[in-house]
Amino acid sequence: MIVFENVEKGYINPETNRFQSVLRIDDYSVPNGRHLAVSGPSGTGKTTLLHLISGLLKPEQGQITINNVVISGLSESERDRFRADNIGYVFQSFNLLDGFTALENVKVGLMFSGKGAKKHQAEHMLDRVGLADRMHYKPSQLSVGQQQRVCIARALVNNPDILLADEPTGNLDPATSAEVLQLLKETAAGKILITVTHEQDVINQFDHQLNIERFTQPSTQEAV
Ligand SMILES: Nc1ncnc2c1ncn2[C@@H]1O[C@H](COP(=O)(O)OP(=O)(O)OP(=O)(O)O)[C@@H](O)[C@H]1O
Ligand SMILES: [Mg+2]
Repeated sequence: MIVFENVEKGYINPETNRFQSVLRIDDYSVPNGRHLAVSGPSGTGKTTLLHLISGLLKPEQGQITINNVVISGLSESERDRFRADNIGYVFQSFNLLDGFTALENVKVGLMFSGKGAKKHQAEHMLDRVGLADRMHYKPSQLSVGQQQRVCIARALVNNPDILLADEPTGNLDPATSAEVLQLLKETAAGKILITVTHEQDVINQFDHQLNIERFTQPSTQEAV
């Protein structure tokens, strides 16, 4: 379960050098097992929301609690550890390591975890996402849809409770997009899955939807 209480997150506006609020979330929670689609205009805070949940960013105010751990109260290294153990993240830009094979990229997901995950899990996950015959290919030797599958395998290799995906189908053709979405939903069965998307077809496939504008501060809108 993810709980937001009186959370405020913003950034220093580089033009004015002043703090500018982006999100204000007074009271919101995501129960275990929920699959949620997050949508809303560009630049309004969707990626920021995922960064808060993953602990990549910390709110200026308020509290974020995940499975009874107040992650907003942890240090950066504690948040890194928490993320490695509990959260899978499919980034908006893939963030795959170019010089490494698919298998090595997925193994990176195991390196930071204290769960004692076994190396064969990386092979198992690549098999699960349909890349059993591409394990030793590098990102530049894979199609965009295949690279996205490697990202999903990397995000899931530790069997996290929570899977966050930032526009996972944004770069894919409709057929591949439908396959990747199906894969995400299957692999995240029973887990929290939060997917950011602009695509109405994708939104429609989620029982629970959140328009980020519910939490967006007026100053952000003006700034866009
Ligand atoms: N490091 C930063 N410093 C200052 N402002 C930032 C920083 N990171 C993000 N912002 C601002 O915060 C706002 C929200 O950004 P965010 O990336 O969360 O938007 P988004 O909803 O994911 O957009 P998109 O749909 O285009 O990916 C934007 O207006 C952006 O300019
Ligand atoms: Mg974004």
